[in-house]
Amino acid sequence: MKGLILSGGKGTRLRPLTYTSAKQLVPVANKPVLFYGIEAIAAAGIRHIGIVVGDTHAEIRAAVGDGSRWGIKVEYIEQAAPLGLAHAVKISQSFLGDEPFVMYLGDNLLNKGITPLVREFEREKPAAQILLARVPDPQMFGVAELKDGRVVRLVEKPKEPIGDLALVGVYMFGPEVFESVNRIAPSVRNELEITDAIQDLIDRGLEVRPHIVDGWWKDTGKLEDMLEANRLILDTFDRRIEGNVDVESRIEGKVVIEAGAVVERSVIRGPAIIGSGARIIHAYVGPFTAIMNDVEIKDTEIEHSIVLEGSCLRDLSNRVIDSLIGKNVRICREPVKPSAYRFMLGDNSEVGIRW
Ligand code: G1P
Repeated sequence: MKGLILSGGKGTRLRPLTYTSAKQLVPVANKPVLFYGIEAIAAAGIRHIGIVVGDTHAEIRAAVGDGSRWGIKVEYIEQAAPLGLAHAVKISQSFLGDEPFVMYLGDNLLNKGITPLVREFEREKPAAQILLARVPDPQMFGVAELKDGRVVRLVEKPKEPIGDLALVGVYMFGPEVFESVNRIAPSVRNELEITDAIQDLIDRGLEVRPHIVDGWWKDTGKLEDMLEANRLILDTFDRRIEGNVDVESRIEGKVVIEAGAVVERSVIRGPAIIGSGARIIHAYVGPFTAIMNDVEIKDTEIEHSIVLEGSCLRDLSNRVIDSLIGKNVRICREPVKPSAYRFMLGDNSEVGIRW
């Protein structure tokens, strides 16, 4: 079997971070979302993965490389424009050949991995196997309607409710899917939808096996989902303290402090992770916080947040919560008059001042 990871798209719901960075490389618990998918596919014994890339191809290539780090071979497939998931399958046909494959959306996370699902697919050999999860907001996803355990209908982002079983961004296909991706027409959002291609398999009388996932699943396309995924992953960590922590600091619960991090006169309450080269000085880092490499948190309190490389938060009088802060951002209190807010923010930035 082969793997196909989709890592294009514009990531509009994560702007402004995605103006400069691929959404699949935003870290969850200090690791790019995309790496969780690669690891899940490699853990299922799949050794050859194609990554479909778009505008952010250079950054994805730089981060992933040739796959040798995971003992796999990675090839890149360029999609000139984000014309849909089924379009990505179409342009990957020469890479995939006649082999069955697992297609994994690069911003999806599944806590239980995919190994038993891949085995089930290999054993049963349906034309497709889809994963489903119950969601409160099905209009945001592809949705499946089941009858007596069989998939009868699939609708992408349904306007009229047809149930709450969302299509998870992990699919398994046999070569029959190529005919279907060639038969379907673009949707209203002008994309070739994989949901329509799977419906076409059903219409052709081929078997589409549904599988309701039993662990958690997250599509990390939005800030709240990113923070939730961060929470879920941090919670699975064991305590590991390798950085330098002074005697005046208190480290409580499941906390990872990477080698090369410095913690002075601070309290870190897990689950939390502090990356290498980070400096936490006279600060409070509360539960569900991921601090990346070379970040400085000084005289500041922060919790339930993600801070990317090289950023600096200093002397803030209110606690920072529920935040996703990009690379090399500076948020400082300045002891000068007049007292005021002073901003330099990129397009689509968001600042919330709670009182
Ligand atoms: C895509 C699929 C949708 C699926 C979702 C899972 O949506 O089109 O069927 O439920 O991924 O993450 P998109 O992210 O393109 O809105």
